Amino acid sequence: MNAIEIRNLSKSFRGMYAVDHLDMTVPVGAIYGFIGENGSGKSTTEKLICGHLVADGGEIKLFGRPHDDPGVRVRVGALIENAGCFPGSSVYQNLRMQTINLGLKNPDDEIKRVLKIVRMEDSAGIKFKSCSLGMKQRIGIAMALLGDPALLILDEPINGLDTDGMRIMREILVDITKNLGCTVLISSHILGELEKIATHYGIIRQGKMIMELSAKDMDSRAQVFTTLKTRDTAGAVRALSERFADVRAGDGHIRIFDVDDTAAIVYYLMKNGHIVSEIKKNKVGLEEYYIELMSKKEGE
Ligand SMILES: Nc1ncnc2c1ncn2[C@@H]1O[C@H](COP(=O)(O)OP(=O)(O)OP(=O)(O)O)[C@@H](O)[C@H]1O
Ligand SMILES: [Mg+2]
Repeated sequence: MNAIEIRNLSKSFRGMYAVDHLDMTVPVGAIYGFIGENGSGKSTTEKLICGHLVADGGEIKLFGRPHDDPGVRVRVGALIENAGCFPGSSVYQNLRMQTINLGLKNPDDEIKRVLKIVRMEDSAGIKFKSCSLGMKQRIGIAMALLGDPALLILDEPINGLDTDGMRIMREILVDITKNLGCTVLISSHILGELEKIATHYGIIRQGKMIMELSAKDMDSRAQVFTTLKTRDTAGAVRALSERFADVRAGDGHIRIFDVDDTAAIVYYLMKNGHIVSEIKKNKVGLEEYYIELMSKKEGE
């Protein structure tokens, strides 16, 4: 079963497609990283899923049902752009207003529950405007979690957070999927962070989904490469290029792609009179993969 299944979704503003015949599949239980440049259509797609915008065409199914089915809409929580909180009201008061909007029974228990999930049990009395950015983002998530949704849609929730803020957010999101069984769709530019938690990725460009893949697929596709340093970079690159297919140089380092046997590289360089001073084996991460994918598509 998929939490989100989108086919052929389109939305245009003033004759320009913001979302252009987009397909998307988010399995239940996934943390789905939604990646794309500024203006590529991430927020618009998320607003269409949540029913904040009406599509020009296409189909959105949530848990196998049309997204505007009232039974399924109540299972979706969202934080898009900002939490929409009143700055002068306390964290508790803001959450309380949302429980009224949603018509929740036992609001106090529900507020306690969501504050615990976002690790803010002790901050209920603080005014929203006095909260740090990290706290504000977590309050936004707490708001979205009210009513116990099965699907959480988060638009750039880690933007602007410091290392510690990002770590807490990571822990919260993993907790939400593992312990609450909630599926999470999260858009972000911070690929290194996303990579630590995402189980699936969708890459959008100019409103079109150009690639969807699981983290497992991504890992098995990821190229290995060796980074090394020698005194004579240019000479070593010349020698290596005669033996290995993909050798690249930059900022004093040499990178050799798709060669698993590091010892063979060192031995070959030694035989050719080059001493290796530093060497490291790496795997292409999400960031490099994304950049490469984008540059290929641009050339088309
Ligand atoms: N309400 C609107 N009216 C007119 N144009 C809009 C509106 N909302 C979005 N757009 C346009 O649609 C395109 C997609 O915007 P969207 O906000 O979905 O991108 P995004 O991927 O979320 O970008 P970012 O990373 O900057 O948040 C952009 O060209 C944007 O200018
Ligand atoms: Mg956006």
